[in-house]
Amino acid sequence: MLQLQKFESKEDIDRLISWVDSERLNIIWASDSFRFPLDTIQLNKYLGNAEKNNILIFKVAYIDDNSVTIVGHAELDVFGTDIKISRLLIDKNQRGKGYGEQMVKLLIKYIQENLEYKSIFLTVFTFNKPAITLYEKLGFKTVEIALDFMRYENEIWDRQKMILR
Ligand SMILES: CC(C)(COP(=O)(O)OP(=O)(O)OC[C@H]1O[C@@H](n2cnc3c(N)ncnc32)[C@H](O)[C@@H]1OP(=O)(O)O)[C@@H](O)C(=O)NCCC(=O)NCCS
Repeated sequence: MLQLQKFESKEDIDRLISWVDSERLNIIWASDSFRFPLDTIQLNKYLGNAEKNNILIFKVAYIDDNSVTIVGHAELDVFGTDIKISRLLIDKNQRGKGYGEQMVKLLIKYIQENLEYKSIFLTVFTFNKPAITLYEKLGFKTVEIALDFMRYENEIWDRQKMILR
């Protein structure tokens, strides 16, 4: 069973730092929000400002009879009644097992049960086919593409906005 739990402890911060092991992944995961490498100063600030910034930060736990394994990270940004699902990450060693899909389903359920909302949206770099395929599978549709959203090394990265229909 997968469960959303509050991201809050030093252990949570250290785990997230270990997962984000390249500058490229840091941008794919969080755009330009954090400098690479992640560190406790940046992540303590992220946690400390969560309430002020109207964001809910989760770790994603896989629970079976004998153990709890933290497999992912996620965030909800509450922009009034427009809710953004963001900062999605599954531990590299746990990908391809269905956790990412279950995580997004749990986030949608959380929104439906706990927040007043009109729309649920997210943004994703256009080259990120695993993520886009997942979102399309769950009913998200692309509504906008921001061309040349950012540049990394010699690459031009476009970013698309997807809304749950
Ligand atoms: C995107 C991410 C969250 C997916 O998590 P995951 O646990 O590996 O995905 P799942 O195993 O739940 O896969 C669910 C669906 O996503 C799609 N998918 C996942 N990995 C894929 C891949 N490598 N290629 C194509 N489609 C893929 C498939 O539709 C899959 O369903 P299927 O198994 O029935 O084909 C994970 O790859 C990740 O953390 N990536 C790095 C960070 C990132 O890109 N975050 C999103 C930023 S917008």
